[in-house]
Amino acid sequence: MSKQTVLMTAVGSYLPANVVTNDDLSACVDTSDEWIRRRTGITQRHFVADGETTADLASKAATKALYQAGLGASDIDLIIVATTTPDNTFPSTATKVQHQLGASGAIAFDIQAVCAGFIYAVDVADAMLRGGRGRRALVIGAESFSKLLDWQDRTTCVLFGDGAGAVILEIDEKDSDFGIRSSVLHADGAYRDILYVDGGPSSNQDVGYVRMEGKEVFRHAIEKLAAVMDEALTAADMQPQDIDWLVPHQANIRIIDGMQKKMQLPNDKVVRTVDQHANTSAASIPLALATAVDDGRVKNGDVLAMEAIGGGLVWGAALVKYGRPA
Ligand code: UT7
Repeated sequence: MSKQTVLMTAVGSYLPANVVTNDDLSACVDTSDEWIRRRTGITQRHFVADGETTADLASKAATKALYQAGLGASDIDLIIVATTTPDNTFPSTATKVQHQLGASGAIAFDIQAVCAGFIYAVDVADAMLRGGRGRRALVIGAESFSKLLDWQDRTTCVLFGDGAGAVILEIDEKDSDFGIRSSVLHADGAYRDILYVDGGPSSNQDVGYVRMEGKEVFRHAIEKLAAVMDEALTAADMQPQDIDWLVPHQANIRIIDGMQKKMQLPNDKVVRTVDQHANTSAASIPLALATAVDDGRVKNGDVLAMEAIGGGLVWGAALVKYGRPA
């Protein structure tokens, strides 16, 4: 029997039209462009318009990914949406996306792993496809994170943005070195109080706002991301030199630079979009990947290293040889 691998064959993204610069924020929050740039690397973010929802962003990103792959909605067997900002508590955003796309035959559900949601969703989709749950999956990271921001809290409200990115995963019977080479997930609920939302249906029936002890999260970020990347490299029997692109979660330029240093990668092997998108939580990795595919940096056969950490804490890494064998 031939070995089955799961390929990542296409990516699409969508950003809402409304761009909000640091100076725009400084007009209503006690902050400055200088502080935000220096501490985070962010210069602007996109925010959804009134009436525009996470499912709308997700469906637009998914439509682009399907187009890039030359597929129709009926070719998709599984839709996973990683999001912390679903349209409703239920039903899942994924079922809405399934309906908007017309992918009526697909299994559809959401994953909640905040900023690590995309890595979690890729891991789950990989296992489901290899377990026989279909041939093709849409894995989408989509967020309207602006809906969770407390405009009285300058330590968090300047950090986040909205957007969506989607990838196509596809089972392949050919024995090649393409596709998902490894993925590693972790969680430690002991750290829930350093990054969380202070609302929810079963706690106070409120949507709530994001709360973060930034310095603490920062301290965990580099340590845990470096360790999980080592695990992913070992699982794939690879070295940092085998990586063509680090496509990290885009929370803070200093965390991204720290990972580049730990992995001893040259500057031009790291995809950075935090300046343009800010932290879009589960959407940030596929948005960054789409940017680098669209501008021609990431090519068929390039090895991608992806990592993320988020509230929980949850964190993970995945190594993928992008595209499909000739
Ligand atoms: O995606 C999930 C994972 N999240 C992350 O990875 C985020 C990790 N954490 C971070 O990125 C950083 O900790 C932050 C960007 C959130 C904060 O940077 P920092 O260098 O840790 O700053 P700080 O919180 O220690 O604040 C330094 C100073 C404080 O003033 P004092 O006490 O030194 O006088 C803050 O009050 O900066 C002040 N400050 C601000 N000033 C202007 C905090 N927020 C702002 C602001 N504008 N928006």
